[in-house]
Amino acid sequence: MGDARLYTFAFVVGVAWLVVKLMRIGRRDRALPPGPPTIPLLGNLHVLPRKFVFLKFSEWKKEYGGIYSLKLANATAIVLSDMRIVKELLDDRSSETSSRPYFYALEVLAKGFFFVLATSDNPVWRASRKSIQPFFSVQATDAHVRIMERESSVLLHDVLHNPNDLTSHIIRYTFSSITDLAFGKRVLKPDSPEILNFRSYIRTFAKAVSPEAAPVDLIPILRYVPDFLAPWMKLWCETQTQQRSLYFSFLDHAERTTGGGKEKSIIQTTLEQRRELGLTREMVAYTGGALLDAGTETIATTTRSLLLCLMSRPACLKKAQEEIDDLIGDKRLPLASDIDALPYIQALIKERLCPGIHFAGTSLNVAVMRLIWAFDFSLGDDFSGADRPWMLEDDYEDDMKGIALAPKEYFCKVTPRSAERAKVIEDCYNLYNNSDV
Ligand code: HEM
Repeated sequence: MGDARLYTFAFVVGVAWLVVKLMRIGRRDRALPPGPPTIPLLGNLHVLPRKFVFLKFSEWKKEYGGIYSLKLANATAIVLSDMRIVKELLDDRSSETSSRPYFYALEVLAKGFFFVLATSDNPVWRASRKSIQPFFSVQATDAHVRIMERESSVLLHDVLHNPNDLTSHIIRYTFSSITDLAFGKRVLKPDSPEILNFRSYIRTFAKAVSPEAAPVDLIPILRYVPDFLAPWMKLWCETQTQQRSLYFSFLDHAERTTGGGKEKSIIQTTLEQRRELGLTREMVAYTGGALLDAGTETIATTTRSLLLCLMSRPACLKKAQEEIDDLIGDKRLPLASDIDALPYIQALIKERLCPGIHFAGTSLNVAVMRLIWAFDFSLGDDFSGADRPWMLEDDYEDDMKGIALAPKEYFCKVTPRSAERAKVIEDCYNLYNNSDV
C-alpha cells in the first residue's frame, strides 16, 4: 500500500513537472523585448502569417516599437524595424551580433556544404567566403562588366524578338551572367535544360527549407523522428538530387574547359587553389552552386519588380527615360560606365548588403538602363484580371517562401522606342555575340 502511494505520488509529481515544462515552451522570458501575447507550446506561431510575414512585422512595429520579440515555439526571434537600432546592433556591435542561427534543414539537405546562410564559425563558410571574396570587390566587378554588357545585349535582342516572354529573358540574363562568372559557361536560350532545371530546383529548394514543409528548426525534437515518418525527408532527398545534378554538371564544365588562355572563372580558380583553401572538390561544387542560388532569382525578381513599379508609375518611367535620353541619345546603348551620370536611375536601384552587392548593383543598373532605353513598357489591360491597381498580396508569388519576393507572371506591352534603337540592339547583339568581345 505504502509503495503504491509512493508510486502514485511520484507519477503525479512527474506529470506535474512535465506539464510545467511544456507550459513554459513558447513563453516569453522577462528579459526579452516586448511582443505579441504568447500561448503555451506555440508562443506566437499561431499568429505568424504564412505569406508576406514582413507586412505583419510592420504592423507589430506600430504596437511594440522598433525592437520586439517573437516566440516561435521554443525559439526566439528578435525583429528590428528601426534603422537606428539596426545600425547600432548589426553595424556598431557587429562583433557581438554577426552570426546566423543554425539551419538544420539546409545542413542536412546540402550535407553541410552550402555556405550561404551558414553560421560564421562553420569552416566551410570561412573557406568558401575566402575563395569568392576577391571576385566581388568593386575593382573585380569592373572587370566583370564585360559579362553583363554582353548578356544584356542578348536580353534586349530576346525582348525585341519575343516581347511576351519578358520574365524568361530576364531570368536567362541573370542566370547566364552568373554561370559565366562562376563556371565560365554561358546559357543562351531561356528554355535550355540548365535554366529549366534551375527554375524547377530553386522552387523545390525554397519549399524544402521552409518551416512549413519541415518545422525541424522550430521544434528541434522533430530531428529525431525516423526518416520514414518524416514527410520532409522525401522532399529533402529530391532537392538534394536536383541540387547536386545542377551543381556538378557546371563543375564538370569548369574542369573540362580549364586552360586555353581564356580568363578563369571563380570555380576554375578555386579548383586550382582548393588545397590551400581547405576545400574538397565537392565543396567547390557547392560554392559555385550557392552563387547561382544567391544571385539568379534575387537580381531577376528585383528587375521584374522594378519594371512593374515603373509601369504602375508611368511618370517615373518617363523621367528615367528622359534622363537616359539626355545623356545617351538613340545612337548607342547605355554602358556600365554611364551609371554614375544617371542619379535618378541609381536611386531606383538600391541594393541590400551581401557579398554580391557590387555585382548585383551593376548588373541591375545595366539591365534596367538598357531595357528602358530600348523599350516602352505599359501594363496590359488584363494584367491582373481586374480593373484595379496591383496588390502585393494578390500579385506576388508565394512559392519562393521568403527566398525572393517575385511578382507573378504579368502581362505587359513592350514596344521598341524607335526603329533606330531596334537597329542598335541588332548591331550590338551581333557585335557581342558573333565576336569574342
Ligand atoms: C538583388 C540582388 C541581391 C539581393 C537582394 C541579395 C540579398 C542577400 C541577402 C539578404 C543575403 C543574406 C545576408 C545575411 O544573412 O547576412 C545574401 C547573402 C548572400 N548573397 Fe546576395 N543578394 C543579391 C545578389 C547577389 C549576387 C548577384 C550574388 C553573387 C553572385 C550574391 C551572393 C551572396 C552570397 C555569397 C551570400 C552569402 C553570404 C554569407 O553567407 O556570408 N548575392 N544576399
